[in-house]
Amino acid sequence: MRKIYIFDTTLRDGEQSPGVNLNTQEKVEIALQLEKLGVDRIEAGFPAASPGDLAGVAAVAKAVKNASIIGLARSREQDIDAVREALKDAQDPCLHLFLATSPIHRKHKLRMEKQQVLETAERAIRYAKQYFNKIEFSPEDAGRTELDFLCEVTEMAIRAGATVVNIPDTVGYMTPSEFGNIFKTLKEQVPNIESIQLSAHCHDDLGMATANALAAIKNGADQIEGTINGIGERAGNTALEEVILTLATRSEYYQAETTIQLTEIAKTSRLVSKLTGMVVPGNKAIVGANAFAHESGIHQDGMLKEKTTYEIISPDTIGLKESKLVLGKHSGRHAFREKLLDMGYDLSDEAVNTAFAKFKDLADKKKNVSDEDIRAMLEEKLIDTPEVFVLEAVEVSYSNQATPSATVRIRSAAGEEQSVTAEGNGSVDAIYNAIDKATSEVVELEDYSIKSVTQGKDALGEVHVVLKQEEVSAQGRGLSTDILEASARAYVDALNRLIDKRKSPGRRDKMSLI
Ligand code: KIV
Ligand code: ZN
Repeated sequence: MRKIYIFDTTLRDGEQSPGVNLNTQEKVEIALQLEKLGVDRIEAGFPAASPGDLAGVAAVAKAVKNASIIGLARSREQDIDAVREALKDAQDPCLHLFLATSPIHRKHKLRMEKQQVLETAERAIRYAKQYFNKIEFSPEDAGRTELDFLCEVTEMAIRAGATVVNIPDTVGYMTPSEFGNIFKTLKEQVPNIESIQLSAHCHDDLGMATANALAAIKNGADQIEGTINGIGERAGNTALEEVILTLATRSEYYQAETTIQLTEIAKTSRLVSKLTGMVVPGNKAIVGANAFAHESGIHQDGMLKEKTTYEIISPDTIGLKESKLVLGKHSGRHAFREKLLDMGYDLSDEAVNTAFAKFKDLADKKKNVSDEDIRAMLEEKLIDTPEVFVLEAVEVSYSNQATPSATVRIRSAAGEEQSVTAEGNGSVDAIYNAIDKATSEVVELEDYSIKSVTQGKDALGEVHVVLKQEEVSAQGRGLSTDILEASARAYVDALNRLIDKRKSPGRRDKMSLI
């Protein structure tokens, strides 16, 4: 079996998804989980985009020990220098350089002839070679690049010192047979191609990102780039969990395997969804809530007789284990701790005590506390943002015959408390108007979404909001059995993050790749 290297770009290309805005702590949290998942390479960001981005990549490079950390750079010296700075503490640093090569990009974006593209990329790789042993070069929009020119570019990259050549289908235009043919041709025609690794980087604009990545493997690719849950620019990137599980399930066909810890997949997916606020659709392959649900009678009958009739992957393969211990209002601390261990959370005594108090509170409001409820409760506050404002209480008056109003009690970090009432065109609007007044912050609500953590009328509701102030955006989350309280919590959480971001130098929002 050939080993396929997994290059995760959730923190770089994934973070380019509209509405996603990870702060440094969140990036580190995801990177540490990716390390547990066992990915080989983590692209942590684009350090030249802003000092804030550089700091994020540097923090990941410091925290992660068992994966190569990668920084992205345009083919310019200042970008390469920014990656050098960001990766100075990395155990296994790697530079990812790119330059567009397709006729459309050459003509309209770069305004360069083929020769200039070759020279610019070669100069950048040679400059970088003084500082990096590992260099990946990406001819951006390779999918729409003339195949003979792509061979020429790859040959130049190898000669100049690249150790990986990545083939991006930047706009998700390729079909599997066309994309596979690029790898076959490069393997057959480029001198010394065996001295480097070939990588595939696909986008999902036509829904073919996973199929294209697998076609690349079939035709000799050594590495697959993608993101967890397939998040990313526009329709997203190749969903890594799909490629990984395909190789695990059909290794005979592909004659290839990864070294991924499959049982960490569900947890990684959940964490990425939570911290990015990007909800995983129920029918998403591998990690969707319905991926292992069997609804029709015929299927259920088959499953009861023999699981393999309708199940090609078992849920526990990806770490979806329903624990047998059922907890309720009368459960004690000991049973609660056992439950946490059973679910894979080995917490300190202090953390167990805090979680237990929250659990008791929840069990008072909710008859059955499920594993999902406990997980949501434990993961609600993964990241500690300094609390400039604390929501002490919220009260809503609603009637469909009158204008809704809300009163919030907010405490500031200085200890001042104030109660403010405001009206709105709905209960949530009234709450948000009251919080705006109480905090004197002028913000724009860019996004609001709500989902229930489990089924049932008493399910926990999880709200995700994105707030914008001038050019800075921040997201926030809130969890409660009451959706209005969850909405208020999410808003205050986002406000605190916005203020934190405003204070940190070099903040930035979305980067532009030009
Ligand atoms: O899609 C793309 O072309 C990219 C490059 C920077 C590799 O993300
Ligand atoms: Zn991309």
